[in-house]
Amino acid sequence: MAGGMETRPRKRQVLSFFLCLCVSLVACETIRYSVREEKKSGSLVANVAKDLKLDVGELSGRSARLVSKSTKQYFELNTRSGDVIIKEKIDREDLCGQSDPCLLQFEIVLENPLQLYPMEVQIHDVNDNSPKFSQNEFPLELPEHLPVNSRFPLERAQDSDVGTNGIQSYAILSNEHFSLDVQTRGDGSKYAELVLEKQLDREEQAQLMLILTAADGGLPQRTGTAQIRINVLDSNDNFPQFSQSVYTVQLMENSPQDTLVTKVEASDLDQGPNAEITYSFRQVPDRILKLFKLNQFSGEITVLGIIDYEERSSYEMNIQATDGGGLYAHCKVLVEIEDMNDNAPEVTLTSLSSTIPEDSSPETVVALFSVRDRDSGDNGRTVCSIQDNVPFALKSTLKNYYELVTQKPLDREKVPEYNISITATDRGTPRLTSVRIIRVQLSDINDNPPVFNESSYVMYLKENNLLIGTVHAADLDTEQNAKVTYSALPGNIGDLPFSSSISINSENGNVYALQSLDYEQTRDFQVTVRAADGGSPPLSSEVIVRVVIIDENDNAPFILYPLQNSSSPANDLVPRSAEAGYLVKRLKGGSCGWRFWSEFLAFLPAAQGYRPRSLRCGSPNRGSKNQQAYNEPRLC
Ligand SMILES: *[C@@H]1O[C@H](CO)[C@@H](O)[C@H](O)[C@H]1NC(C)=O
Ligand SMILES: *[C@@H]1O[C@H](CO)[C@@H](O)[C@H](O)[C@H]1NC(C)=O
Ligand SMILES: *[C@@H]1O[C@H](CO)[C@@H](O)[C@H](O)[C@H]1NC(C)=O
Repeated sequence: MAGGMETRPRKRQVLSFFLCLCVSLVACETIRYSVREEKKSGSLVANVAKDLKLDVGELSGRSARLVSKSTKQYFELNTRSGDVIIKEKIDREDLCGQSDPCLLQFEIVLENPLQLYPMEVQIHDVNDNSPKFSQNEFPLELPEHLPVNSRFPLERAQDSDVGTNGIQSYAILSNEHFSLDVQTRGDGSKYAELVLEKQLDREEQAQLMLILTAADGGLPQRTGTAQIRINVLDSNDNFPQFSQSVYTVQLMENSPQDTLVTKVEASDLDQGPNAEITYSFRQVPDRILKLFKLNQFSGEITVLGIIDYEERSSYEMNIQATDGGGLYAHCKVLVEIEDMNDNAPEVTLTSLSSTIPEDSSPETVVALFSVRDRDSGDNGRTVCSIQDNVPFALKSTLKNYYELVTQKPLDREKVPEYNISITATDRGTPRLTSVRIIRVQLSDINDNPPVFNESSYVMYLKENNLLIGTVHAADLDTEQNAKVTYSALPGNIGDLPFSSSISINSENGNVYALQSLDYEQTRDFQVTVRAADGGSPPLSSEVIVRVVIIDENDNAPFILYPLQNSSSPANDLVPRSAEAGYLVKRLKGGSCGWRFWSEFLAFLPAAQGYRPRSLRCGSPNRGSKNQQAYNEPRLC
């Protein structure tokens, strides 16, 4: 086969070359070639014919073969040219990993005679791998407030290439908190440590992202990156903080239970339990605790009791916020209560004359009172009035004080009493009103004389008729002022005084005849009767009573006792204080047709006191004709 071999110029790739002359089965010195990894299949490694000084025809003639020890055949011998070429692309990293140098061994075997030529090819590294980190991101948890210069070793990157193509350096982007310190181990490999340059503050920056770059020494240089995610762990280094140091809120009085008053809010820059805030009242008096409730988790203040503006118009309370680590802060809540018109005006009497004389002059003060409304502002501003149809008026004196005064002349006989409604109204919304009734009674003044019910009276005087008539006068006043007393004014009938003939009951105005008058002498006569009341001074009026005498008998009875004096009118027969059995008058009989002494006795029952009821006529020498008169008293 050797004859068929062609010779052609070859570019030698052999770097080192040992020639040895070998005899059969004797191992010679190994010929070493070198080649870069990753060369294409078919690339020339060496021309063994030339290096072994063999004729190319001899190669095929002696059945030259390439025998590899490895299972995979990377090389191939062209027996016609004597070239050893790459059969399959070689990956140094796959073949040798990190071991260096990376050698592949084979032998060229010739027959007739059998000869072995050991050969090896050193595979040179090409920078075809970048540094690589095992993960794209490395978490790192660091507590805040670590001392400066603390160090944290970082994970190394891997680069499959070797030598200068391996990792040569690490770097991070410039950063105020960290720097990177790259160290070399005993085996020459590099590793990096993070060095803390400035203290961490979680509240300022809770997480930092660093980009770590590993670079190899190849040409061109290859790099690999990974993120370092630094989580800063919290420590309770922040106090809770209220959003406001003072909360000022308005609250309507009488707000129902559970009405939200306000919500206090504190925040804490820390994290987790260090930021969990609870709220509490701080040194708040019991009376406020009965009115307001604080939700310890939400900070909501709600109404608990009855809020009364009139009791207190504002409340102040201190509230504490405490975090899970025991740090606390305070704030103040100021609740201003707004008034509601929930109080009606109150009328308070300071003085009252419940009875005033009817002749009180205008402007007489009847009552003094004050009006008060416990609300404030318009809700507490009051107006006061009384009804129109009364002769009284209100006069405002001092602030909120009023006088009730008389305005017009009064007349008890027309209106004896007044119920005066004092109406006090405030100007709130809705308006509230209260009414107070003052009862004013008028006391009587003797301003009315007795008035006879007839302008004149005519009475008839007949035999056996003692009661001849009644005069009547009424007095509009009351009590003593209306107590009418009758009397006849002195006067004569012919030569005799009236009093010997007629008598008038001062109490009831009954007119009695005392004796018969001589019809032939006097047909009639006139008596003036006066009615006087008991006032002081008394008022009186007079009326003419004409007494007409009817002729029936000659003699009228006359009074023996007590002796009647001609000048005085026949007045009071019986005193008011007379008791039963009192001797009223002794009459001398005449009209009955016989002469007798009789006694007028008043029978006065204890209950009635003084009023005469009956007269009893009687005679010691009784005549049959007058038996009846004695036994059966006649009403006079
Ligand atoms: C005044 O009020 C009293 C008590 O309510 C009542 O008895 C009286 O009759 C009233 N008087 C008038 C004039 O209305
Ligand atoms: C006047 O009063 C008397 C006694 O009460 C009575 O009998 C008489 O009828 C009265 N006269 C008139 C006009 O009313
Ligand atoms: C009445 O008259 C008598 C005698 O004429 C005399 O003594 C007496 O004082 C008189 N009484 C009165 C009350 O005037």
